[in-house]
Amino acid sequence: MAETYPWKLAWITGASGAICSEVTKRLAADGVTVAATARSADKLAALAAANDRIKAYPADVLEPDALKAIVAGIESALGPIGLALFGAGMYAPFDIRNIDLDGFHRTMALNVDGVINGVAAVLPSMLQRKSGHIAIMGSLFGYSGWPGNGSYGASKAALINLAESLKLDLEGTGIDITIVNPGFVDTPLNASYDQKKKLYVISADKCARRILAKLGDKPYEIAFPSKVEGFLKTVRSLPRSLSFPLIRWFTRQTEQP
Ligand SMILES: NC(=O)c1ccc[n+]([C@@H]2O[C@H](COP(=O)([O-])OP(=O)(O)OC[C@H]3O[C@@H](n4cnc5c(N)ncnc54)[C@H](OP(=O)(O)O)[C@@H]3O)[C@@H](O)[C@H]2O)c1
Repeated sequence: MAETYPWKLAWITGASGAICSEVTKRLAADGVTVAATARSADKLAALAAANDRIKAYPADVLEPDALKAIVAGIESALGPIGLALFGAGMYAPFDIRNIDLDGFHRTMALNVDGVINGVAAVLPSMLQRKSGHIAIMGSLFGYSGWPGNGSYGASKAALINLAESLKLDLEGTGIDITIVNPGFVDTPLNASYDQKKKLYVISADKCARRILAKLGDKPYEIAFPSKVEGFLKTVRSLPRSLSFPLIRWFTRQTEQP
């Protein structure tokens, strides 16, 4: 049975990626028009070929003016954007003995600047209409620092903080904020992450289903799997004298052959 959603039109960045392409296809199949953004026009064209409700709007999220133009183009052609889902993101390994500064800077730029550029582009018309829903793809790794995750974790922690600020700033404006924090998803994004340290991995399709099962209710937070969420939130809430030894103990367990 088709799901019903509270939005007629969604704008999704990272729409050609593993998780957001599944979200895009599922929304379109259930009657939502999706304006799909990523850099690769070819991948977006292939996505759009799957369903008439998917419209390709290629852009680089690191270019704020291009995003403003994209939003203006989408809204004049398709109507008001009900949902803006910011999913463009990347992972770069973090080796404390050989810090990849370029990887760090690129990760922070795409994962953080890429999101706020999108928010800045879509927010003015949402504020004018006094309605809209902004969803940000974070990660469970944003809840706590983790060995070897200094780039990605820092970028996702920034998004969790940003989402909290947006939530507070936008109270009473009619605009809802959701931070989406999945755990490991089997996608090309984390291909370079040590396989034996990936726990509770789910497929991109399952991830999309779990997001969409809740997103229409516009909760502040969607996080899964619950075991990893519970562990990381517990770690976060402990005094540091307990949390650091606990993380060290936990990571030693997953380093066993
Ligand atoms: N995979 C996981 O385990 C996992 C877990 C938790 C959260 N997440 C988050 O979920 C989101 C999607 O992850 P994924 O695994 O599906 O990633 P993915 O398959 O690698 O897709 C990344 C997407 O971002 C787009 N992109 C990259 N740079 C861009 C730019 N400068 N401008 C516009 N678009 C750009 C890519 O398209 P182009 O290259 O064509 O631009 C692609 O559509 C990310 O925010 C990620 O951090 C992932």
